Amino acid sequence: MGVPAFRLGFSVLLVFAFVLCDLGVCNGGITSRFVRDDDASSDMPLDSDVFRPPPGKNAPQQVHITQGDSEGKSVIISWVTPDKPGSNRVVYWAENSDTRNHAEGYFVSYKYFNYTSGYIHHCTINDLEYDTKYFYVIGFGSLSRRFWFTTPPKVGPDVPYTFGLIGDLGQTHHSNRTLTHYELNPTKGQTVLFVGDLSYADRYPFHDNTRWDSWGRFVERSTAYQPWIWTAGNHELDSAPEIGESEPFKPYLHRYRVPHNASDGSSPLWYSIKRASAYIIVLSSYSSFVKSSPQYKWLANELEKVNRDETPWLIVLMHTPMYSSYVHHYMEGESMRVVFEPWFVKYKVDVVFAGHVHAYERSERISNIEYNVVNGLCSPAYNIEAPVYITIGDGGNSEGLVSEMTEPQPKYSAYREASYGHGTLDIKNRTHAYFAWHRNQDEYAVEADSLWLHNREWISTKLPQSSEMTHLSSAAA
Ligand SMILES: [Fe+2]
Repeated sequence: MGVPAFRLGFSVLLVFAFVLCDLGVCNGGITSRFVRDDDASSDMPLDSDVFRPPPGKNAPQQVHITQGDSEGKSVIISWVTPDKPGSNRVVYWAENSDTRNHAEGYFVSYKYFNYTSGYIHHCTINDLEYDTKYFYVIGFGSLSRRFWFTTPPKVGPDVPYTFGLIGDLGQTHHSNRTLTHYELNPTKGQTVLFVGDLSYADRYPFHDNTRWDSWGRFVERSTAYQPWIWTAGNHELDSAPEIGESEPFKPYLHRYRVPHNASDGSSPLWYSIKRASAYIIVLSSYSSFVKSSPQYKWLANELEKVNRDETPWLIVLMHTPMYSSYVHHYMEGESMRVVFEPWFVKYKVDVVFAGHVHAYERSERISNIEYNVVNGLCSPAYNIEAPVYITIGDGGNSEGLVSEMTEPQPKYSAYREASYGHGTLDIKNRTHAYFAWHRNQDEYAVEADSLWLHNREWISTKLPQSSEMTHLSSAAA
């Protein structure tokens, strides 16, 4: 005898409900139960091959590049010579060109307690052609080293471009896996948006700055070949009055330069760039952001400047997340949220990336800006004009993952998982971009969460709306 159709349907529904509950969908979004051993996140030993200096005494090392102007026609090239200043010169040429150009940089050095840095060179090369591969050489003679990079296409509203997202990287075995997975990702990120906490050198006695050097050598295999857009985190503070080091961000600011002057920034800790079809704003969670602070005033002015007809994608980077449902660092970003979130909604920021929490999480499009003391509206609510908030502090760090989560999962949290990994943001045109989070699953990268982002400016106001484009779900926002 056959099973009555209604009983079969009920059974299917029951099984479906169990599956959803197992995934954690019953409360808010999805809490992934994926677990791998967290092998203490210990740093790789200093004699690891990833830290090996290039051959030759005083050869340039720790090479890294970043965007040098507001539009992508300039690159800042930085490197360290450990023993002597050496040359400040960069020789560079476009692929398929016989013309050799050169630019002169400068070097800085610093002392930190009992550590003296090498000679940290910075050289800006300007007036590059868009969308062109360039070779560059630093050092001379037998110590010279050659690298290359590709400039972005001219800024424009429908220019496709792919960013990598990495945060809280550190120099552990997990860090190495994350970087390797990013390098091997077939999506081919062209520029890394880095959301802070670089080397974790400050966790060593006296903030042993040789771990800043080893980190620079570790990431060189990527940072020498494509720009990393830097954001400062708490592990860049290196403030240690007990050993006479009170100047915040001292090692970081000597080693990593950014184009803050190009965006009228009053500090290298907050700045903006345009790249392809994206306008990227970098904020400092560890600098004052209260009303009338330099950062507050800068951001107020900066958001007014964004032209979504030119750069449809408005992206904000910061270190401390404004929305996170993990117990660790819970609500640390609340003060900045109160100050800046109304602007993010007003100016229709598409996505906010942050790190700090050593895990992954993606929010729904929500805001919490209605509260006025007496109305009781103090819970995050769905808001079509609000950004998606993505925490990607899962690079590898040196402190381990955080796995304790607030329960039940808040409704604003769409997906969360305590694993290591990296992200990619693949901008297709002015309306659509595909974000994917790639979990470190043993020796493989597995796309564990993804989202089609629909541009807030162009989808919501300038194109005919469809239910798919405006409907809130974990698959489309
Ligand atoms: Fe952090």
